[in-house]
Amino acid sequence: KTVRVAVPATTANMGPGFDCLGMALNLYNEIYMSISGDKLSIEVEGEGAMDISRDEQNIVYRAARRVYAELGQPVPGLTIKLVNKIPTSRGLGSSAAAIVGGLTAANRLTGERLSQERLLELATELEGHPDNVAPALLGGIVISVLQDSKVHYLRIDPPAGLNTVVAIPDFPLSTRAAREVLPQRVSLQEAVFNLSRAALLVGALCEKRLDLLQVAGQDVLHQPHRANLVPGMKEVMAAARQAGALNVTLSGAGPTVIALTCGAEEAVAASMQHSFKQAGVNCHTKVLIPTI
Ligand code: HSE
Repeated sequence: KTVRVAVPATTANMGPGFDCLGMALNLYNEIYMSISGDKLSIEVEGEGAMDISRDEQNIVYRAARRVYAELGQPVPGLTIKLVNKIPTSRGLGSSAAAIVGGLTAANRLTGERLSQERLLELATELEGHPDNVAPALLGGIVISVLQDSKVHYLRIDPPAGLNTVVAIPDFPLSTRAAREVLPQRVSLQEAVFNLSRAALLVGALCEKRLDLLQVAGQDVLHQPHRANLVPGMKEVMAAARQAGALNVTLSGAGPTVIALTCGAEEAVAASMQHSFKQAGVNCHTKVLIPTI
């Protein structure tokens, strides 16, 4: 039997919620997996087809192997086909999608013996932080807290009418490089700045108060430090706000910039593209809808 799993792209942080907030978007990677003797075979179509590894280093395979280890079973030969729509190394959760896809597909192949909670813990262990893997697994907007290798989470439905415009630059940025530029210590003032916005952001999303997203989406913990890695970032954010976006942030570790919108999507997309171009960056834009 072949199992098929579709896993959504995700945007992490949403501004102030560094490493704890994420939202699923309607762009999917598909994973087909079946047991095939004792050989591993991996085929990749679409995004990442040129550079995703086809051997035991492949992330989907490593995630599948983790499920077999958890069940105490030997790993059989697997035939894996990946049909990818999520661009790689752009801040849209492609590695989280690969991890969640590998775990979910292998769990189905072995009789669904692992709970969502356990899959989330395994995904977080493989990814290092829960903010992309949680919405990739559960959909919607997820607040997640990692404590003693347990993930405590709350999932909320995205407010109706909330859309996003993503501007995806044509260069990759590794999460590792984008984390290396972050300071190890922050001031009390900076901590208060972010925690007040993160608290307001979660409340605003629950209460569907889109008018609060502008203030609630601000951040001083990671984006200012990452600005040098994404030419034009600040100008693109300002241009999107000017064109009517509710809030504009880096998506995850970047380089994609994401605008939350409720109308004016075309104008926002055009302004982001133009502004990136002026900074010498080619990008393509997409309107993506938060998924349940
Ligand atoms: N929270 C993570 C970061 C998301 O900003 O580094 C990227 O995986």
